[in-house]
Amino acid sequence: MSDRTTRRRILVASNRGPVSFSRGDDGRLSAKRGGGGMVSGLSTVASQEDVLWVCAALGEADRAAARLAPGGVLDLGGDSDSAVRMLDIPPATFNRAYNTVANSVLWFVHHMLYDTPNRPQFGLAFRRDWQAYRDYNAAFASALAEAAGADDQVRAVIQDYHLTLVPRMLAELGAGGHSRRPGLRIAHFSHTPWAPVDYFRLLPDAVAIEVLDGILGADHAGFLCRRWADAFIDCCEQVLGARVDRDRDLVTHRGHVTGVGVHPLGVDAKEITHRAAEPDVEVRMAGLAEMVGGRKLIVRVDRTELSKNIVRGLAAYRELLVAHPEWRGKVMLLALAYPSRHDLPEYREYAASVQRQARSIEDEFGSPDWTPILLSAHDDYARSLAGYRLADVLLVNPIRDGMNLVAKECPIISDRGCALILSREAGAAAELAEHALMVNPFDVSGTAAALHEALVMSDAERVRRCRLLAAAASAVPPSAWFASQLAALDEPEP
Ligand code: G6P
Repeated sequence: MSDRTTRRRILVASNRGPVSFSRGDDGRLSAKRGGGGMVSGLSTVASQEDVLWVCAALGEADRAAARLAPGGVLDLGGDSDSAVRMLDIPPATFNRAYNTVANSVLWFVHHMLYDTPNRPQFGLAFRRDWQAYRDYNAAFASALAEAAGADDQVRAVIQDYHLTLVPRMLAELGAGGHSRRPGLRIAHFSHTPWAPVDYFRLLPDAVAIEVLDGILGADHAGFLCRRWADAFIDCCEQVLGARVDRDRDLVTHRGHVTGVGVHPLGVDAKEITHRAAEPDVEVRMAGLAEMVGGRKLIVRVDRTELSKNIVRGLAAYRELLVAHPEWRGKVMLLALAYPSRHDLPEYREYAASVQRQARSIEDEFGSPDWTPILLSAHDDYARSLAGYRLADVLLVNPIRDGMNLVAKECPIISDRGCALILSREAGAAAELAEHALMVNPFDVSGTAAALHEALVMSDAERVRRCRLLAAAASAVPPSAWFASQLAALDEPEP
């Protein structure tokens, strides 16, 4: 047990937490630790600091676990002081806040996914859903205020578009409704892109203002790359009329100054290299290598997510086979498209359209001794790592992406060096563009040409670029990314 009196208290808040529960056939609950950059970044911090992670219960088993835990705080064992509090938010409120507002509105705005002749339509139903989003944010804010108590030196680090209203709500609660409490410093971090002003203005004016004002309740607002930070500052200036100081990255609103910062997130090279050498990965590599049979291998790995641009990626592969028939029989595409957000009809339809596109390529070009495309929708991390290790070419072509960690993970563990085709609309482009083949994600022919260029790249050039990509990708591991957010909060107030 550490000495709580000499350490800062760190509160983390995110919709999805570091642990999730499932119920076995015998009715018992079992916990599974989550993966991902944020979780691994935090585990390093958690061993040195006193951390409470507040998240939402996502399903029935999470809710049951939260109800059984004293004060909702789950004991995860281990000897660190880190703990998780899961909020049992009423299912209807959660569903409206998470599926309808966060994932169908804010996500669509920041990734510019709307088919604008038809959507969005912000009518009465949206007003009701927006109220649910407020309630869901208020549940987080009050849990954080309760956890902060009267302690001095509390740092609250609030993650992502689900929780944009929390910083303002927490600042007001933490101060008992009067002025801000000096011992409580608040950061908000956006894992998504930030929409350009004209697109952000699709939101009803009052909602756009509430989102910006909500984040500006924080002392620090963090983004994954300069481009998203600049778009946020533009919105603050033009939508909110806030005073902005672009040289010092400061936004002043309602008498409070919020610092804006860029904190790129990279990969822990040691951890992923270690994981990729495990026997389950080796087994999958052997199976995959047999199917590929010495041909060139193009790999893509995504959640089946509208912003990932999987359908156009497949169309580009088709164009490659049309424009360069010499590749027929000599190349394969491994497309791992994991299930995501299946509660939303657009996502189910998108998954079906990915399947249709893959089948039509198969029908057009497949032969008894050549399968042009291997598409799998079955979630299997070990198989992704096997794909990464064997890939000659990695295709990452999102419409827009906050960062994209696939583009960073693959070069680090690639066995023979892989060429990266990267969308210029991914946040990762800021760090990787120099050594990747960059594409406009809407330009299918341009992407097909990049596939050809990557396939004919010499081994030496591929290896050279891959080394440089790996170095850039591992420059800021998750622990350093998280530490940089905390450090920004410790800077003296301007
Ligand atoms: C993005 C978001 C994360 C989110 C993840 C998975 O990366 O920025 O906050 O957790 O997608 O989405 P899900 O809806 O499954 O949590």
